[in-house]
Amino acid sequence: MVFYKKFNLSRLVENLSKSLDLILNGSPSNHALRVSFICILISYQMNFKLNERINLYLAGLLHDIGAVERETQLLLEYDKRDCVDLQRHAIVGYEILKKIPLFEEIALIVKDHHNPASNNLLSRIIYFADEVEVLLRRENLFEPKTLKAKIYPLYKNRPMFSDILDAFVEVIRNDAFFIMLSNVEEIKKYFVSHVEEKIVSVDAELFNRLAKSIAESFIDKKSKFTLTHSSDVAKTALAIARQVGLSNKDCKTIETAGFLHDIGKLFVPKSILEYPGKLSGNDWLRMKSHVYYTYSFLNQMELDEDIIHIASSHHEYLDGSGYPFGLNRNDLSTGAQILTVADIYSALRQKRPYRSNSFSHQEALEVLIGMANKGKINRDFIKAIPSDVLDI
Ligand SMILES: [Fe+2]
Ligand SMILES: [Fe+2]
Ligand SMILES: [Fe+2]
Repeated sequence: MVFYKKFNLSRLVENLSKSLDLILNGSPSNHALRVSFICILISYQMNFKLNERINLYLAGLLHDIGAVERETQLLLEYDKRDCVDLQRHAIVGYEILKKIPLFEEIALIVKDHHNPASNNLLSRIIYFADEVEVLLRRENLFEPKTLKAKIYPLYKNRPMFSDILDAFVEVIRNDAFFIMLSNVEEIKKYFVSHVEEKIVSVDAELFNRLAKSIAESFIDKKSKFTLTHSSDVAKTALAIARQVGLSNKDCKTIETAGFLHDIGKLFVPKSILEYPGKLSGNDWLRMKSHVYYTYSFLNQMELDEDIIHIASSHHEYLDGSGYPFGLNRNDLSTGAQILTVADIYSALRQKRPYRSNSFSHQEALEVLIGMANKGKINRDFIKAIPSDVLDI
């Protein structure tokens, strides 16, 4: 019997894009959001089918995912773009996305987003929208005539762009375009009412693979101290779940939750994640907020309750002293209790910025037992950790 799960792929991509957005002069660049907005308007003019329109929207949000931070800044400055090898980040983005299940079509669109001769019309639309967005960012072209005068000479003799240019000229005929482009809140509202969500149905196996690649490509890459953390937690939690005899289905759910448990870290600044000491006050709250954001993120994806509960309870304790919701032994499922043990164990076995050494298996167990003695975590699951679960 195969169990299918439904989840909201658009929300996943939107949040990933938001977490990658670059802070410029103290505020988000919103480049990807604006590019995606321009793409959608063009696609309506060109009468695209629903599926193509959604794919274009999603690829617009992730098109620069392959760029490193310094590069991203240069990409946003029209005059400095020549200093960047534009193909490089497009190919890197493709390489990242093609490995993620369900992202194959998006990957292909991203691959060619700086290739004006691409056969892929959707890539050429992103190419165009990206250039327009960066141009608009540099100059204040908030008026159809001046914008048209600027864009027309750039594209009028390029047959590969003639339909796109015609569609765009229609798009900018009304003031609403300019008003919305200068107010991201309005773009977000437009997306809510105009961009259909992509709800996909996957079996537990495929979702597990998706979670694994999201962990590897996004979550664990966020900090050099966590390069294998999510996979380690998933591996440890799965080993414990098997050891205590849970069903295959429950084991899979726990492993999947392990891959996703720190997804909220995407919204915590690197300076906090890598702070080499004890955090306090507001900084400590921001660090702790990652698990609340895991909850919020997975909730928006409309995932299974089990996965959300297990993933977002990994800092909760049996005595109610954990965070973010202060749940206690009556609220915490077996899966959640296992994941908490697996998370602490894996963190102890790794090097961290706030301590010089990692712990051996035995030393880690001693710390865990100490916590069990204080009534915080479940002793049975500590005993179930195989000594060779992580190859460290
Ligand atoms: Fe790009
Ligand atoms: Fe965590
Ligand atoms: Fe963790």
